[in-house]
Amino acid sequence: MKSPATLSLETPGAQLVLARRSGVWTFAHLGARCGAAEDLAALASARPYAANHCAEGPMETYPAFGSSRGQGHRRLGNTRGALQVRHADGDVSVDWRCVETRDVPEPSGARHVALVLADRRHPSFRAVQHFLAWNDCDVFETWVELSHGESGPVALSRMDSFCLEATGLGDRFHLLSLSGQWANEAHVAEDELLRGREVVLGSRAGVHDAWENQPAFFLSVGPAPATEESGRVLAGALCWSGVWEIRIRHEWSHELRLSAGAANLSGPYVLEPGRTLVLPKFVFSWSERGKGHASRTLHRWARAHLMPHSAPRDIVFNSWEGVRFDLSEARLASLMDDARALGAECFVVDDGWFGRGRFARNDAAHGLGDWKEDRAKFPRGLARVAQEAKRRGLRLGLWFEPEMADTESELVRDHPDWVLREAGRPLRLQRGGTQVVLDLANPVVRDAVFASVDAAIRAIPGLAYVKWDANADIANAGSPFLGPDRQANLWFDYAAGLCDLLARLRAAHPRLVLQACASGGGRAEFGSLAFADEFWCSDNTCAQQRVLVQWGLSLFYPACAMAAHVTAVPNKQTRRTASLKYRFDVAFSGRLGFELPPDPLSPEETAFARTCASAYKRLRPVVQGGDLHRIASPCEGDHAALLFVSPDKRRAVVAVYGLSRAANDGRLAPLRLSGLAPSLDYRIREINLPRPGTGLHTAFSGKTLRGGALVSAGLPFDLGPGDDSFVLELTATKQQGTHT
Ligand code: GLA
Repeated sequence: MKSPATLSLETPGAQLVLARRSGVWTFAHLGARCGAAEDLAALASARPYAANHCAEGPMETYPAFGSSRGQGHRRLGNTRGALQVRHADGDVSVDWRCVETRDVPEPSGARHVALVLADRRHPSFRAVQHFLAWNDCDVFETWVELSHGESGPVALSRMDSFCLEATGLGDRFHLLSLSGQWANEAHVAEDELLRGREVVLGSRAGVHDAWENQPAFFLSVGPAPATEESGRVLAGALCWSGVWEIRIRHEWSHELRLSAGAANLSGPYVLEPGRTLVLPKFVFSWSERGKGHASRTLHRWARAHLMPHSAPRDIVFNSWEGVRFDLSEARLASLMDDARALGAECFVVDDGWFGRGRFARNDAAHGLGDWKEDRAKFPRGLARVAQEAKRRGLRLGLWFEPEMADTESELVRDHPDWVLREAGRPLRLQRGGTQVVLDLANPVVRDAVFASVDAAIRAIPGLAYVKWDANADIANAGSPFLGPDRQANLWFDYAAGLCDLLARLRAAHPRLVLQACASGGGRAEFGSLAFADEFWCSDNTCAQQRVLVQWGLSLFYPACAMAAHVTAVPNKQTRRTASLKYRFDVAFSGRLGFELPPDPLSPEETAFARTCASAYKRLRPVVQGGDLHRIASPCEGDHAALLFVSPDKRRAVVAVYGLSRAANDGRLAPLRLSGLAPSLDYRIREINLPRPGTGLHTAFSGKTLRGGALVSAGLPFDLGPGDDSFVLELTATKQQGTHT
């Protein structure tokens, strides 16, 4: 058999092979790296395809409605494909020919190929499809640029970033995804994807794009879901803070169809001749070593290639849960004293510092959009607050909600046409009964938003941190800027405008630490992490619920990105209480911080908090920059256990959280700490102890054990009833062998 021309994209452990057939590239293989691209392509072309369905074998890399590949209903795109257009002359088909395949040099040495596809009938209609294979982690990135030079606009009713139509991957699939809602984010759901069925994940909110569904998934290939340590997993995520859709279909013939991209809610996107539309990036990964490896791969990729900074994150003290809108210089100064006493390094002034006169931000109904300090609250200005912070050795951060405005603001009073609204219809108002969304599709609005946020940042010397919040959705589906025939472009252009704004902020303030927040975890996704250093996981700060939220998010996102704050009890969302230790231990496995009322803790508690904070400072390179191994799942039992291991495997942190354990319930399997180096000896020490030396959870605290034994037999431990927790620090001893 004659082998087709092949393209092999290889990461250290995975391989994507494309084969050229009839003038286009097709997917031939996605799996473990083995070289042998031509053999893989030959094997793919010889698979027994169902003759009535897919006689031509593997499908092209960017399938469009009307392709000449496939037959019958397939040609007409019943299988959905990635792209559907109406050309300027009314023609609705696209039939690609690959006119160029080029390597794009990457400074990192990663392999990046661009496939230039042109429609056979309208050759100016083009898609440049990019594939990038990283050489230091098993992640592939892909994205598409669409452009044309037709006589008029082209309408795009479907414009996915990626569409994998894979044959031969397997015949059983289990899909793991996360879903939730406000204050109840990131629930893990895993089900078999039955033959002939399609699952659609998506968000239609426009702003809170990661609430209902997360734009990320694991697909286990095989008869049972992959475990943490074994099984084949295709991981995927869309990097887009907008309206999106991911569809995964298990065809009756066992093909897997996976498409992902930005979605249009109110009609086709209208693309002008001469413009290039860059579609969002989709990332995917292949693991032969279960979900744990898939997670660690995404974490490494995000830290190394997506997120702006790799430096360890500060311990943050945020004012919101403690004092809400009730801000003043004296109040903040006293909170800063608390923050310093607790060991925080950055103090964030949350909502309530801005707006003037009748638009002062004393509640959720006023002032959004007017990013000038409220002189009634801060007669000497926020620069003075910054001085107070500096005097205490704290960096300063500030809250903004740049995409939004209140109708009760100078901004909306002066520029009513900067607000998203549907012509001739009443404005639908959101939070506080006054909140509206600004028209980020309009470059003039973006300029104005950038100018006012930038000026506020510059007015505070040394401002180190910005919390970028967003507490409303696109409830008014109209842009005064886009013409009447371009209104459906809003969904995409809003999100693209947001990227533009964030990129400008990043360029103007490269050292700024940015938190993405959208009423909690509404923007906990990779689209945000392209600009932000972290996200706020949830407005629900109840420690017990945070165990579950952080567990779910950890499947895709690294611990350095997960802001986790110790807050007061009873918790504001759940009315539950938890010991200070439990709250600390839970925040310890993310980016630790605080949101506490003034004078929150007794002197003993403050001393305990300081000890925990200093342990966190010592161990944050391991938690924030190490590899996560999930040891015991809170979704399957009554406790969660996490292990973080430094890249050189010499340091590790174990965190265990009980969740309403029954009394005298002895079923505790030892902690098999896979992830440690089998040949190293580790000294084990329990930390975060309210009374040092007492209340130990393992008899091996203070002892040294061989990594191999901890992996193979596991560490025995105790966990009390209710909500008990503990944290261990493991340090490799210099020499191997001496056991105590
Ligand atoms: C949102 C955020 C909170 C807080 C408030 C302020 O709800 O998620 O953390 O910043 O806004 O209004």
